[in-house]
Amino acid sequence: MTAFDDLRADDLRHVWHPFTQAATAPPPIVAVAARGATIWDADGKDYLDLVSSWWVNLHGHAHPAIARAVAEQAGELEQVIFADFTHEPAIRLAKRIADLLPGDLGRVFYSDNGSTAVEVALKMAHQYWRNLGEERTVYVAFEGGYHGDTVGAMSAGRSSGFFRAWHDLLFPVEIAPFPATWDGDEEVEAKEARALAAFDALLAERRGQVAAVLIEPLVQGASGMRMCRPEFLRALETRVRAAGTLLILDEVMTGFGRTGALFACLKAGIQPDLVCLSKGLTGGFLPMSITVAREPIWQAFLGHDIGRAFLHGHSYTANPLGCAAGLASLDLLLAPECQSRIAAIEAVHRSRLAQFSGRADIARPRLCGTIAAIDFAEGDEGYGASASARLKRTFLDRGLLLRPLSNALYLLPPYCVEDAELHRAWDVIVDVLDGL
Ligand SMILES: Cc1ncc(COP(=O)(O)O)c(C=O)c1O
Repeated sequence: MTAFDDLRADDLRHVWHPFTQAATAPPPIVAVAARGATIWDADGKDYLDLVSSWWVNLHGHAHPAIARAVAEQAGELEQVIFADFTHEPAIRLAKRIADLLPGDLGRVFYSDNGSTAVEVALKMAHQYWRNLGEERTVYVAFEGGYHGDTVGAMSAGRSSGFFRAWHDLLFPVEIAPFPATWDGDEEVEAKEARALAAFDALLAERRGQVAAVLIEPLVQGASGMRMCRPEFLRALETRVRAAGTLLILDEVMTGFGRTGALFACLKAGIQPDLVCLSKGLTGGFLPMSITVAREPIWQAFLGHDIGRAFLHGHSYTANPLGCAAGLASLDLLLAPECQSRIAAIEAVHRSRLAQFSGRADIARPRLCGTIAAIDFAEGDEGYGASASARLKRTFLDRGLLLRPLSNALYLLPPYCVEDAELHRAWDVIVDVLDGL
């Protein structure tokens, strides 16, 4: 009996893990340390973190520069109420993010996680129209979209299939088709044309009622790294503008370099009205998120009536430790070494994905910046499907932290991952898929 056995027993007795069926899941792995792209468990086994620990870790685990920034901030100001008070890390981070985003996206609202960043955007859009004297209550989201676990985010993500237990709790959201595509997809233009025609029809039917259109730009994460082309997003933006409604981009996963550009909106060349960011914001150190609004949205909330203000906030809003981590993470992200790692990861992915062409058991190879995905075991549908659960265990046994989403196998590594580590991971993937 070791101290870790006691810990494991207490975990099983007291801890409720997310997205887990405790009756059948194997006991969780006790992580004791992590550096770079590697996590060690209590038995000394190592795992290469190829999912950036739920897509949050940008620069590798326990990066000393971020650890130092958080420690220094903790010694000065660990937390302060963010109504009536402000502080330097929050101001500096807001300014830096505003400078990086396109156009007049310059008003930064802090919250705690990706779901609340989306919830804030939905509430802002609703109240924006109300403050302008218009009742616009309809949202349009996309088939397969996932936006988080709060009620508004679930309502917008209802088609992702994650929320059947709460179906009766959700409010109606119009769901438009998403033209998912991949390398060598010959149908892409036809699919986009159909999706845009359906979108046009929806906007015409709901003329004057749509508060906002919400989309994960370039890559839908949780529904299996489903990718669309920048061309589709640009055509969508044109239609949103013509309809006079708002465009919300959920960049919770795609932000901070994941798509090869700093933000997906920059890569696609589109100007959103509201952007939701989280995950990579603090480099994976602290739970924090932001919703960034364009100037006209901010202006619509000004007035002498408190009821015009955005009466929403969270206890830990703009936590100084999170902001300090965010500033340190941005420094690392913008450094030339990190930018060249991002390009190198994309190059390794591209060369390895090419090896799957001609394999009948692997479909839809796709790549967007540092995110690579393939589909395996066609016909084995559903989150937690048996093939994907088996694959996850096999990869863990072989020292890779990979979590297939239904029948999509993807890599979304921290940027510090070395080419050799990435090649080793792809070698293991090929070996495991060969044995399926
Ligand atoms: C695109 C997107 N939006 C929102 C969320 C919700 O973020 P969180 O889990 O931090 O609430 C996620 C989480 O995976 C996401 O991928």
